[in-house]
Amino acid sequence: MAPAGAALLGYLLGSIPFGVILTRLSGAGDLRQIGSGNIGATNVLRTGRKGLAAATLLLDAAKGFAAVWLARHFFGGQDDSIAVIAAAAAFLGHLYPIWLRFRGGKGVATLMGIVLALHWPCALVYAVVWLGLLATLRISSVAGMAAAVSAPVSAAFFSAFDIVLLLLALALLVLWKHRDNIDRLLNGTEPRIGAKKAPNP
Ligand code: G3P
Repeated sequence: MAPAGAALLGYLLGSIPFGVILTRLSGAGDLRQIGSGNIGATNVLRTGRKGLAAATLLLDAAKGFAAVWLARHFFGGQDDSIAVIAAAAAFLGHLYPIWLRFRGGKGVATLMGIVLALHWPCALVYAVVWLGLLATLRISSVAGMAAAVSAPVSAAFFSAFDIVLLLLALALLVLWKHRDNIDRLLNGTEPRIGAKKAPNP
């Protein structure tokens, strides 16, 4: 009962497509028809609305954090596996939301919130890698993929072996979701943050 509750709660929270909702509410149209077509903060930024992009980033991270925190609170007790189930479900909810016919985001912000709820030192590493690469390279996909890969590595470094496998699986899913970005990186057409030309959906 508790694992099912944690999974349902995680999925429902994770599947809220904040980028799509905020962009639609702001009158900027359907985010899936803009730029890369992705539902994350980077693509919201391509609408020219910086505040909306920041809100999407925060809310996408917050839903990952909240899924783990609430599942622990309501279903967890001393059971660590509940947090892992809620984390996986929230992440899958963001990547494959039923409301968008299972075509969701790439998971970088949501994973940040999940990692923060699971193990804050790993989240610190994640944030440093993510923001550091974003500030220097200004290529969102590279920064996001590197941050995601840092999560299982730092968990192993901090001996948080109970979450290494989960974070490894989630990092691989982040890479899988970035396969179009990887193609663009390889042929030199991946845009930098703030570039006029955006990738096609
Ligand atoms: O977090 C998403 C980012 O890594 C890439 O977004 O829109 O450039 O494909 P986008």
